[in-house]
Amino acid sequence: MKKNKFTNSTRRNFLKTAGLVSTAMFSGLSAKNNISNKIKTLSPLGELCDFTALPNGFVYLNSGTEGTMPQCVVSTLQKNLAKWTSDPTYAYELDRDLGKRQEFNRGKVSEFMGVEKNNICLTDNTTMGLSMAIMGLNFTHTDKVVTTNQEHSSVISPLQIWQARHGLQVKTQPFPSPEKIKNMNQTELLDTLFPNNSALRGAKAMCVSHVYPTTGVRLSLKSLREKADELNIAYLIVDGAQAFGAIDINNINERVENCDFYACPGHKWLNGPPSTGVLYIRNSNIQPPEFYPTISQRMIRYTDGNSNYPIAKALQIRGCSNTPGFTAMVRAMKFVKDEGGTAVIEKHILNLSIEIKNLILNHAPNCIISPYSDKDLGSGLTTFYPFRWNQPQVPIKDKKTAEWVAKTLMERNIQIRSIGIPETGSVNNTFNKSYALRVSTGYFNSNKEIEFFTSSLEDVLKKIN
Ligand SMILES: Cc1ncc(COP(=O)(O)O)c(C=O)c1O
Repeated sequence: MKKNKFTNSTRRNFLKTAGLVSTAMFSGLSAKNNISNKIKTLSPLGELCDFTALPNGFVYLNSGTEGTMPQCVVSTLQKNLAKWTSDPTYAYELDRDLGKRQEFNRGKVSEFMGVEKNNICLTDNTTMGLSMAIMGLNFTHTDKVVTTNQEHSSVISPLQIWQARHGLQVKTQPFPSPEKIKNMNQTELLDTLFPNNSALRGAKAMCVSHVYPTTGVRLSLKSLREKADELNIAYLIVDGAQAFGAIDINNINERVENCDFYACPGHKWLNGPPSTGVLYIRNSNIQPPEFYPTISQRMIRYTDGNSNYPIAKALQIRGCSNTPGFTAMVRAMKFVKDEGGTAVIEKHILNLSIEIKNLILNHAPNCIISPYSDKDLGSGLTTFYPFRWNQPQVPIKDKKTAEWVAKTLMERNIQIRSIGIPETGSVNNTFNKSYALRVSTGYFNSNKEIEFFTSSLEDVLKKIN
């Protein structure tokens, strides 16, 4: 792999510096106090917790697809895999950290999310959590579910199963165009997306994303709750794939308790291992026939007359899971805490994304897709159409160009991605797509990396024929 001028020590030093700056901003501490904070990047055991796994000079701007892992997370995973291997049956049956019941790790995750253990089921990924939520509910052909034309297939697919098998009515609401969103605040956007009309009122569920993978639009969980309540919708089901680990879930507007179900990954913005995720279930007492535990070995608990078995526990016990991964996901949550918490992480991610948004806005305002005027709508994702550097007023929307730009940047050791965006007004998100570029600014990225990306992008865009 070609190397550029960045080294891991640059990245490491930046993180420490960023920590200093953000800590100073948050608490107004003196420089002297901040120096001791620097040492906090080492865990109490002196374990290095740093993103040194990314090769020197590789500018990774794609946390929206997969995060990387800091060293302490990798070593937790390795240590617990070794522990599993040395005594597999004990590990599976009884070990506190590795056993199938996962009481301990569910407790740790619930602390991180500020909820109770019986609200939490550890999953393989967002897709699994969404499927457990959507397939678990007891829809009938008279029910309708409200969603949007920008959902990931993890939301669409289980809805399509309900539609095909039982005639569930799916109301797909089209997002307004990026030009329109630009002039909207969060309330205006939500009122446009989900107008208070008879078609939507009284739906059984609303299935939406916390952050949209296509545009980077963030919808706060509190305003989604208010909208669901206004429309008298029974269940708010949220896909948190592009939010968890990037958004400050301790902020009153972003608390998962606003949702009835919140499914998210450990492996993207949180920088945990592959095949890890969380499903939050607000009503820990929910049970059949209102909600069934799909992918579980514990349906019998509800048929044998025992009516108070926690549903999250029933969903957790489902054969052999990636429990070493769960221990490492919990370590990634401790890493967040040690860095100063979810607010510090969100601030860093958003600050970097604002740099990318400013670059596009200053040079090619017609090409930006992600919202930028209302900061409440922003996230760590920035999407924009490619353009010829000397013709910035003309967005180029075909798949080939977006893929070519992403590939050419990759040849320079910079990873972003191309992404399909459903055309405005379309209610089917598989057709009529335009293609854009998506940059994810993760916690491990530095201002220097963004500068390198910026100059490389200019260079590449100058080469578009
Ligand atoms: C919005 C959204 N939902 C769901 C997923 C699927 O995530 P997972 O791999 O955790 O199932 C993705 C993946 O990119 C996503 O962007």
